[in-house]
Amino acid sequence: MKFFIDTANLQQIKEAQDLGVLDGVTTNPSLMAKEGISGEENVINHYKAICSIVDGDVSAEVISTDYENIIKEGLNLAKLDDKIVVKVPMIKEGVKAIKYFSSEGIKTNCTLVFSAGQALLAAKAGATYVSPFIGRLDDISTDGLSLIEDIRLIYDNYGYETQILAASVRHAMHIIECAKIGADVMTGPLSAILTLLKHPLTDSGLAQFLADHAKAAGK
Ligand code: E4P
Repeated sequence: MKFFIDTANLQQIKEAQDLGVLDGVTTNPSLMAKEGISGEENVINHYKAICSIVDGDVSAEVISTDYENIIKEGLNLAKLDDKIVVKVPMIKEGVKAIKYFSSEGIKTNCTLVFSAGQALLAAKAGATYVSPFIGRLDDISTDGLSLIEDIRLIYDNYGYETQILAASVRHAMHIIECAKIGADVMTGPLSAILTLLKHPLTDSGLAQFLADHAKAAGK
């Protein structure tokens, strides 16, 4: 299972990269705005900075919603770095654009996916990744993880190669359940990844080992 970090914060991206388990980064316009990044040049420079830190794929989202401009924007993003994945919303014009990008060998991430039907369309258009937002479904009392199960079943039935990128991951249990279901990738905040480290028996066990070692050394 690949681990992506869902942020545009360079410090957090560096911290995740240093941990040695990072496979990529996802961003979106809200995450870019949160870091105060605006204006075409700044946005481009920020994506370049992210690409210089990580080894894996970096999803950069288009702002346009009409076919011609999605293509224009996506081509500009794709030429920044081989790591760039053009992130396109699940709308009619977006599906057409994903089909075009896929025919040109440009990687895509179909975002804002909330149903199995949308995920099926994304796969048929040739998306590299599909991003079902499990946390946002949970927020409206709908089981986000069962959507991942449905997409896994559908993709396996037909051998679609589109990778299931479980997005809007909020906590460690989301990550573990996604891994059990067979999501190809998860993207979430650094805090969710770091929570995987935690177990009280690890902490107490280590404290005991160190205390015993110190005691023996003191003899
Ligand atoms: C997906 O790529 C999105 O950036 C993201 O996971 C959205 O998550 P949120 O619901 O926590 O904003």
